[in-house]
Amino acid sequence: MAFPRHRPRRLRTTPAMRRLVAQTSLEPRHLILPMFVADGIDEPRPINSMPGVVQHTRDSLRRAAADAVAAGVGGLMLFGVPLDEDKDATGSVGVDPDGILNVALRDLAKDLGDSTVLMADTCLDEFTDHGHCGVLDAHGRVDNDATNLRYVELAVAQADSGAHVVGPSGMMDGQVAAIRDGLDAAGHTDVAILAYSAKFASAFYGPFREAVSSSLTGDRRTYQQDAGNIREAVREIELDIDEGADMVMVKPAMSYLDVVRAAAEISPVPVAAYQISGEYSMISAAAANGWIDLQTAALESLVGIRRAGADLILTYWAADVAGWLA
Ligand code: PBG
Repeated sequence: MAFPRHRPRRLRTTPAMRRLVAQTSLEPRHLILPMFVADGIDEPRPINSMPGVVQHTRDSLRRAAADAVAAGVGGLMLFGVPLDEDKDATGSVGVDPDGILNVALRDLAKDLGDSTVLMADTCLDEFTDHGHCGVLDAHGRVDNDATNLRYVELAVAQADSGAHVVGPSGMMDGQVAAIRDGLDAAGHTDVAILAYSAKFASAFYGPFREAVSSSLTGDRRTYQQDAGNIREAVREIELDIDEGADMVMVKPAMSYLDVVRAAAEISPVPVAAYQISGEYSMISAAAANGWIDLQTAALESLVGIRRAGADLILTYWAADVAGWLA
């Protein structure tokens, strides 16, 4: 009987051997923790569809952020949840220095300084009464160019409040160029832009709508991309790089790993992928039923996103992973 000449299993014999030859690394520094901070609450408010994730109070945010940074996560991405009565058609509370997101950014900038990378979601949907990512024209459609003017104000307010990175997530044409010019004119030449470049209209954002107490009715299909379009995704990424994006993002992650790979192949800047709310909820729900193991499944999903080519991953497990890997 012939012995097989090639035995790949030799490199799988012991945990030490497997660790030695592991091709893809996953480290806490690769991970960015998205966090929600809400106005007008005294206690952290659980998000039912995202077990373990909460809308923070200002104080609980400060504690959780400090813990995550101490655990070694690479950065924090902040989302603000204002009072419903403070929402209006143009999302003024996002621009207001006393709005919850800007106040929380100042808290964290003061607490954490340059020990982490502080990022803010630069979008209007959390702040508008209609829940769209932009301002609307007379026909109720999202007005691209008027929205960009508002994004510039948002980005400058976030930079003024201490954000190291702004994350335009509304998929308006020209948003990166507009924000870059606006930040530079305001003296924020060192504030970076993490562009949500290839962002798809996805059912997997469902739990996020609860997380930010969204007012949206309808959908975002006139600005977010259709699931099938990878050529268009590559075009969006190229445009954002051309407009001055410092980092580009693909979102969601797990149903779009080929897009992550395509981005990694063409991008001269770091590529991020966002493992979004629904991806977190699916794995959490199956694990809660005892159908899969949470930790193993979460780590496998993140290694897969790294293997596809993501340098950075936004994930609600960022701080947990830092603990698991410690
Ligand atoms: C828009 C924004 C969304 C998410 C991040 N930024 C929602 C949307 O586009 O509908 C989704 C994140 C997630 O689902 O975890 N401000």
